[in-house]
Amino acid sequence: MTSTSTPRPLLSSKKDIPLKGEIEVAGDKSISHRSLIFSALAHGKSRISGLLEGEDVLKTAAALRLMGVTINKEPNGNWTVNGCGVAGLMEPSDVLDMGNSGTAARLMAGLVTPYNFTSFFSGDASLRKRPMNRVFEPIKQFGAKIISRQNGLMPFAVIGATDSMPIEYKMKMASAQVKSCILLASLNTKGTTTIFEPEKCRDHTELMMRYLGLKINTENFGNNGTKISYNGIQEFDAKDFHVPGDISSAAFMIVAALLVKNSKIKINNVGINPLRDGIIITLREMGGNIALVNEREIGGEKVADIIVESSNLKGVEVPAHRAASMIDEYPILAVAAANASGITKMNGLAELKVKESNRLLMIAQNLEKCGATLVMGDDFLEVKGGIKEPKSIAKITTSMDHRIAMSFLVMGLTMEKGVEVDDSSMIATSFPNFEKIFTNLGSPFSQL
Ligand code: S3P
Repeated sequence: MTSTSTPRPLLSSKKDIPLKGEIEVAGDKSISHRSLIFSALAHGKSRISGLLEGEDVLKTAAALRLMGVTINKEPNGNWTVNGCGVAGLMEPSDVLDMGNSGTAARLMAGLVTPYNFTSFFSGDASLRKRPMNRVFEPIKQFGAKIISRQNGLMPFAVIGATDSMPIEYKMKMASAQVKSCILLASLNTKGTTTIFEPEKCRDHTELMMRYLGLKINTENFGNNGTKISYNGIQEFDAKDFHVPGDISSAAFMIVAALLVKNSKIKINNVGINPLRDGIIITLREMGGNIALVNEREIGGEKVADIIVESSNLKGVEVPAHRAASMIDEYPILAVAAANASGITKMNGLAELKVKESNRLLMIAQNLEKCGATLVMGDDFLEVKGGIKEPKSIAKITTSMDHRIAMSFLVMGLTMEKGVEVDDSSMIATSFPNFEKIFTNLGSPFSQL
C-alpha cells in the first residue's frame, strides 16, 4: 500500500546560462495540508486555490476522504471541500497511508485523537523510520490510546478518546507538527487546551484558526516562548483559502539565481511568514541580493514577490535560535555555503537528523562528494566555502529525501562535471513542477 516508485536519476551540470524570468513556485505545503483539514471540519463548502498538488498533500486529502469528506478538483484548478463540522468525521474504512509526509501523519493523528473510533496509520520506508513518540505523548494525555511498533514507529493506531480531556502541554522541541497535532485534537475537545512553546515555530495553524473566526489566545513572552490556549468546542463556517507559494520551494530557485552568474529572476506570490523567513535573512547576511516587493496579506499570511540577482556570497554564522524559522532550508543553505567565500557555521541542527532522511548526514556526505571541506557535529555543520571539483561526476545519494535531491541538483549547476542524483522521484512529494521551472528559466536538468 505504500508507494515504492522506480528510481529516476537526474543529471545537473554547469551551463554558463544565466537564469532569467518570472516564475511561481508550488503552493505552500504546510498551508495546503492545513487548508484541507480545516475545510473538512467547517460547515459548508470551501474553495482552495493554489493548493500544492504534491504527493504529501494528496495523502492528507485521501485520508480525509476515507473519513467521509468530499474533496474535488474543479476544472479551473481550484479544489472544493464539503466540510462536515468539527465532530463530523467518520471512522476511516482503511489504513491511512501517509506516504512520505511527517506533517500529514502527525497532524492527522491529532485530528482523530478526540473521535470515538480507531484509525490506523502507515507510510513509506522513510516515514516508517521517523519518530512519532513526540505526538503520542500529548495524544495519550487527551485520553486516546496508541498502539505502535517499538520506539513509537509506524505503523501505529490511534484508538480515539471516548471522552477527550483538554490538556496542558509544554513542548519539548520546536515543532509546528507537534503544536498543530495538539491544536487539531483540541478542536473537538471540550474545555481549554494550553500549549507552552519555549521556541517559536511556524504558526500557520494559529493564523488559519483566527482567519476562520475561531478564538485562540496567544501570549507572547519574547525570547521566553509563547503560551497558546484554545477553548473547544467552537464550530465554524467554511471560508475560501488562497495558498501562497512555498518559501521552502522558492529557496531552491533563490539560491540557484544567486549562484549562477548574471541571473535575475522574480518569484511571484511567495509566503513570507516571519516564522519561516530565516533563509532570506541568512542569504542576505551572506551578501545575497534579494528584494521583497509588493508585500501584502492574504488569509492572515504575509505574501510578497521576490526578486533575486546573482551575488558573491560570503560565509556567516547562523545562530541556533534561527533554526526553527528555516528548518527545511539547511540543505540548500549548505549548497550556498559551499559556493561562498569563507566559512559558514550552522548551529542548532539536531532536528535535521529526523527529517525525511538523516539530513545532517546526507548534506555532509553529499557535499564531500562534491569536493567541499566541512566539519559535521552532533547539531552543527561548518562548511568551508570553495570546492575542489571532483574529476568525475559526483554521485549523490538522496535517501528518499526530496530536499536533498533538489539541493544537489542546484549544486550541480555550479560544477563542471556536475552531479548525478540517484533518484528525483521524491521531488513530487513537495514540488511537482521543480524540473519544469528550471527548464523555463533556461537551465534544464537531463535524464540518464
Ligand atoms: C511542518 C513543520 C516542520 C517542517 C515540515 C512542515 C509543518 O516540521 O520541517 O516540513 O507543516 O508543520 P517539524 O514540526 O518537525 O519541525
